[in-house]
Formats: sequence, C-alpha cells, structure tokens
Amino acid sequence: MQSSKQSTNSFSSSLGAIMAAVGSAVGLGNIWRFPYICGKYGGGAFLLVYLCFAFGIGMTLMLSEFVIGRRSLHTPVKAFESLAPKRKGWRYVGVLGLITCFFILAQYLVISGWTVSYFFDAITGRLATMGQNATAISDYFNGFSTSALRPVIFLAVFAVLTAIVILGGVQKGIEAVSKVLMPVLVVLLVVLCVRSLTLPGASKGLEYLFSPDFSKLTAEGVLAALGQAMFSLSVGMGVMIVYGSYIPVSDNLFRTSMWITASDTFIAILAGVAIFPAVFSCGMEPAGGPGLTFCVLPSVFNSMGGVMGTIFASIFFLLLGIAALTSAISLLEALSAWLLETLRTHRWIATLVIIVAEIAVAVVVSLGNGVWSDFHITGITIFDFVDRLNSIYLPPLGALGTVLFLGWVLPSDELRDELSNQGTLRAVYYPAVRFIIRWVAPLALLVVFVSSLL
Ligand code: PFF
Repeated sequence: MQSSKQSTNSFSSSLGAIMAAVGSAVGLGNIWRFPYICGKYGGGAFLLVYLCFAFGIGMTLMLSEFVIGRRSLHTPVKAFESLAPKRKGWRYVGVLGLITCFFILAQYLVISGWTVSYFFDAITGRLATMGQNATAISDYFNGFSTSALRPVIFLAVFAVLTAIVILGGVQKGIEAVSKVLMPVLVVLLVVLCVRSLTLPGASKGLEYLFSPDFSKLTAEGVLAALGQAMFSLSVGMGVMIVYGSYIPVSDNLFRTSMWITASDTFIAILAGVAIFPAVFSCGMEPAGGPGLTFCVLPSVFNSMGGVMGTIFASIFFLLLGIAALTSAISLLEALSAWLLETLRTHRWIATLVIIVAEIAVAVVVSLGNGVWSDFHITGITIFDFVDRLNSIYLPPLGALGTVLFLGWVLPSDELRDELSNQGTLRAVYYPAVRFIIRWVAPLALLVVFVSSLL
C-alpha cells in the first residue's frame, strides 16, 4: 500500500524532503522573531535554553508528526482515524491542527503582503526617500498597514503566488520551488551578514545577541523559548504530518528531523547576525516584530546611503518574502491536501476553495488592524486575537494531542517500525525518543498551555 501511494505523491528524495520541510520551518518566525526574543531574554543564555528545547522537544515533535504521516499516508484527520480506528475522538487533534493552520495562514498572508509591498517600495527607491527620519518611516508604516486597500491587494497577490506553487504538485511545485529558493535565501542572508558585520561598531550587536546574561532569562523567557522552538519548527498543527506522508519509506526520519532542526536554528542565528550589528551600528534600539522589520530596519538601510541602502533593503525584503512564501506553501498544502482527500476532488478545486476562504479571512484580519480596529474580541483587535491564537493557545494543544496519541495510544512497535524503517536501521535512539514523547514533551507542553491561561 505504501509504495503505490508514495510513488505518485511523495518527495523525490531525502534532500527534497529536507528542503521542503526547511522551507516550512524557516519563515517570519526566524527572521523577525527569533533574533529579537533571543536578545531580550538574555542572548547566549536564551540561546542555550532554545537549543535544548529545539533539539530535545521541537525535533521530537517533528519526528512524531513525520511518523504519524508516513505511517498512515493520510492528512491529519484521517491519519489519526486510520491509525486508531476504534478511538475516533483522536481525529479532533487533526481537526484542531487544521484550524490552527487556517488561522496561521490568514495572518501570514497579511504580513507577507506587507513584505511584498515593502520590497516594491525598496526596489523603486520609495523607502530611501524617507532617509533616517524615524517619524516619517513609522507614520508611513502605520498609514500603510492600517489602510483598507493596499495591504489587501498585496496579500491577495501573495496568496495567488502560493496557490500557483501548490497547483504544481508535491514534486514539481513544493519540492522544486524549495530546492531553488532555500539556497537563494541562504546566499542573500550571508550577503546581509557580511555587510552588517563590516559596519563600524558591529560588535555591540553581536554582544546583544550572544553574550549570556542569565539575569534576563526569566521563567517567561524559558516559556518563550519553547513556544518559539515549536513555531519555528512548524510543529503542533499537522503540517509535518502531511509532509511526513510524502517522505520516502527508505528515509531515516530521525536524521531528516535533525537536519531540519539544525538548518532552521542556524538560519535563525544568521538572521540575528544580519540584523543586530547593523541596528546597533547606526545607534538604533532593537524592537520586536513588525516595529523591527518595517520601521527600524528601513532606517538602518537608509543609513547606508543611496544605492547601497536601496540594494540591501531590497535584498532583505526579498529574503523575508522568500522565507514567508515557503512557509505559506506548507500551510496551504496541509489544508488543500486535507480537502483533496476529504472531497476526493481535483487538486485545483481543493486549492481554489481553500485559498479563496483564506483570502476572505485574511482581509478581515487586515481590516481588523485598521478600518475595523474598533471591533474587539475578548478586549483586543481581531488582528491581535488571531495572533494570540496562533502563538499561544492553539499550537501547544495540537502538539500535546499529537504526543499523547503517539506515546500512549499507538502501539509502541509502530513507532519503533517507523524509526527503524521496519528493523533495517539500528535506531539506538528509540528508547530516548519514546521517553520524550511519553513524558517530557507532554509535561512541558502542559506547563506552556496552563501558563498561557494564567
Ligand atoms: N515556521 C514558520 C516560521 O518560523 O515563521 C511558521 C509556520 C509555518 C508555523 C508553517 C507553522 C506552520 F505550519
């Protein structure tokens, strides 16, 4: 059964699988979130905790999703159903994952739209005209991001681009695009790192990022590290279940997960090296999230002067757009593949239905940031509400369901079979992985979830 489905609907090779999954993992989270929270919570001290979580728990969560996907060869809901046919309730872990994917993609489309718009502003020199006037730049950003039309047009353009890749299929769409864009992303990032590191006073930025300050590493910082590791590795929402179902049967899932985790972490660190030395070099203060990307950085690029500023700003927003695109691809693929499997329809119909629904919700999220910002859910704007769902509440729950299922519901030999490729690999790590899946990960996720409610 495995080989017939896998031959038509799978990545062509181990490398293809790694590239596609790294594409999913490397996204806005690496470039605009990791560097900032790393600096904020104690630099090197945070990094140490992050590494433990990423390789100890995040990677195990990814491995768990791969196991469920490759074992079942189904998309999230059916995957749980088919692996535990008598315990139907577990399908809701899959449902929850898909809901999470839906909301993350809606928010992702909005911010990716901003990125595309800024790329055009950079390349046409419009950003450069604002120089280092911080007020002008932040007025421009606030005006643009809260306006009704322009962000909507750009999010729609980005959505259509994402859908076109999905229509190409697993090998000719997702895999082919990831194999080209990921190396391009690394090259662009290295170019930015070299520029940033050769600016005067760059070492202050490196200090902010790396020098360990354990006094800043609060309990909140530790929880943020786990949340960031999960978001960055795209786990807890079933995307890696879908990608797992495309991984060739001969692939060593443990090794694949390790490569993906290492690449994702490496790129997050590189992003910090590209950003902070430049920020400190021109005497600016680091900020987080949108403020850093859309207000501080344009000013930093403009301080490089004329053509240079235009070139490096264009490179940065292109890089951010690429990172966002390959992540959006994985979210759209998870949703389209689910609809495709559920309705047994054509790929293009499933993709069209999902992308139209996503654009509709993304438009609401975008307007919720501007024209409709007076409309509140639980006391916050629609935009902030979706952000909170995506970053705090939903992913830990989905991940918790996944590890409980794998650790306590699925017979243990199924996990061993997948890790050892039916006994052909030695898989010495199996007992440790099983222990993390049964005990360490559920406890950690429970702590994260409960603390998010407090
Ligand atoms: N890992 C992506 C990032 O770091 O930006 C975000 C993401 C993509 C989360 C895909 C979840 C997902 F399924």
